[in-house]
Amino acid sequence: MKYRVLGSSGLIVSPICLGTMTFGEPVPEADAIKLVHGAMGMGINFIDTANVYEGYRRFLGSPGGTAETIVGKALKGRRDQVVLATKVGAPVGPGPQDRGLSASHILREIDRSLQRLQTDYVDLYIIHWPDKHVPLETTMAALDQIVRQGKARYFGVSNHTAAQLCEILWLAERNGWPPVVSSQIPFSLLRREFHHDLSFCKRHAIGVTPYQPLQGGLLTGKYQRGQVPPRDSRAAEKPEWVWEMDDALFDRLEGIEALAAEVEIPPAQYALAWAMSQPAMTSLVVGAKQLQQVQDAVAASERTLPADHMARLDQVCPPPWQQPDPVRG
Ligand SMILES: NC(=O)c1ccc[n+]([C@@H]2O[C@H](COP(=O)([O-])OP(=O)(O)OC[C@H]3O[C@@H](n4cnc5c(N)ncnc54)[C@H](OP(=O)(O)O)[C@@H]3O)[C@@H](O)[C@H]2O)c1
Repeated sequence: MKYRVLGSSGLIVSPICLGTMTFGEPVPEADAIKLVHGAMGMGINFIDTANVYEGYRRFLGSPGGTAETIVGKALKGRRDQVVLATKVGAPVGPGPQDRGLSASHILREIDRSLQRLQTDYVDLYIIHWPDKHVPLETTMAALDQIVRQGKARYFGVSNHTAAQLCEILWLAERNGWPPVVSSQIPFSLLRREFHHDLSFCKRHAIGVTPYQPLQGGLLTGKYQRGQVPPRDSRAAEKPEWVWEMDDALFDRLEGIEALAAEVEIPPAQYALAWAMSQPAMTSLVVGAKQLQQVQDAVAASERTLPADHMARLDQVCPPPWQQPDPVRG
């Protein structure tokens, strides 16, 4: 496995990061623990969780904690073998202090996360979503405190644009706060709205760790036009978590699958190999229900797609807009 450096942190991570959003349901605790151990056995050393994750049972404002608790159990005696990331900011209760990026919420939640994870530090503490109600300085001062206390080694962000990252870098430099080292954005062949932010991340040593690179399973080839979803798939079990499958979507999926068939690469591996080849990509945050799916992701991290496929994929799934180049045409 070719390990990579996560942004400016110096942390060495596997190109696949194990996502834990489905821990609890549909992946029961015992299976989830086996999944973590199996993934580690394949060389995966990067685990992504969040204070809110509790599998399919999650609803807006539910307390979360399930996935962190399971990860804590799985890492007992193995904590030092992994780079552990968790997140804060999404609602974990009904009250106004139960969400967001205020100092009081963040400082409370890091302690709760550490307790559930049975550790005294996380390697990466990620702010889950921007919070327009809290000044960024307040959030960053709280993160600085957490890093100084040794409760987190580094901090990263999720669902932030390049403009927001730029402000964070600028504030950090001005105030002597730790820099942001990673950006977790939604990114897949079907979802490229952050595509043009990747070069910004590359220039500023921010490691990109995209989530849903398989678009929740849509890019695995398991869903076919005119057919009901397979019984144990996410679309059958939790349709709210999968995009509506219309003809326009199947047109794109069939275009991608035809290209994957040309080079005899299974669709899931093909989609992951494409994502991995994009600028600043460090580690793909992949969800899995079975060990075989983790194996697929690991196999994908060792594949390279032919150069002409990149351009042909841009035809099937274009980036959001093309930057005009008045100098070089
Ligand atoms: N920062 C954020 O806001 C945010 C948001 C969402 C997710 N995340 C993170 O990203 C992780 C991944 O998200 P995700 O699970 O929704 O996306 P994903 O990795 O695109 O999809 C994973 C799902 O696809 C199916 N799958 C995976 N590999 C497969 C294979 N080789 N063949 C067939 N099916 C396969 C499995 O579902 P089935 O077998 O059930 O069909 C699996 O649970 C989460 O666990 C979480 O850590 C972060």
